[in-house]
Amino acid sequence: MKILILGAPGAGKGTQAKLIAEKYQLAHISTGDIFRSNIQGNTPLGQQAQQYMSQGLLVPDELTIALVKDYLETNHFENGYILDGFPRTIPQAESFDAYLASKQECMDYVIDIEIPDEFILDRMSGRRVCTKCGATYHIVNSPSKKEGICDTCGTALIQREDDQAETVKKRLEVYHAETQPLIDHYKGKAKYLPVDGTGSVEEVFASLNKMLGA
Ligand code: AP5
Repeated sequence: MKILILGAPGAGKGTQAKLIAEKYQLAHISTGDIFRSNIQGNTPLGQQAQQYMSQGLLVPDELTIALVKDYLETNHFENGYILDGFPRTIPQAESFDAYLASKQECMDYVIDIEIPDEFILDRMSGRRVCTKCGATYHIVNSPSKKEGICDTCGTALIQREDDQAETVKKRLEVYHAETQPLIDHYKGKAKYLPVDGTGSVEEVFASLNKMLGA
């Protein structure tokens, strides 16, 4: 099964993608996570990506497309995957469509987490992440058991650099201009599953499970 998950920054894509990946035994492929681990490792890709990410801008298409194709070519995914954060522009989607077609493959589902912009600032300002294992928390909605410490691996939690209010506003602008048009692009190409993202994590996951036929 191949799933693409769309939604504004902070809509809950990463949170839901992790739950879906676990339940359906899929690989969770997040371009944001790949870029962040490269930034942490100070690789040439990370140095390039950071210039864009810290300003709330998208990493250039050529770089991102090459990264994802290479990732898919060099890994084998037994049961398929869920793509979180890619494609994010029409050129990325067109290039990815052509890549899948060349392998006689297609996306099965496109999930769209719908959420008004007003919710986003609160979600982003309260988000805390673990740089070691990637776990995500929210200081009010899903706090770690011990404040500031990851439940899973005990590492200190941090706030993402791009979660500052001004950068979040820029990311939202970029989302509406560049990524939202993908909803129309994918309607008709895969089964389109819009979901209300304003409920709790459990409510959103339950709705998605129903739509995915579990
Ligand atoms: P990326 O990491 O993909 O960020 P994003 O799309 O902006 O999404 P986020 O990770 O911020 O949010 P999310 O929707 O996953 O929400 P989450 O589940 O964490 O990309 C970062 C940057 O990398 C981009 O800006 C760009 O520069 C670059 N990049 C990445 N891919 C690229 C591409 N393809 N092309 C070019 N550039 C690319 O939830 C958010 C918070 O809310 C958490 O605290 C969570 O606990 C909480 N929460 C989640 N769900 C709920 C709920 N239902 N109720 C209450 N709280 C909730």
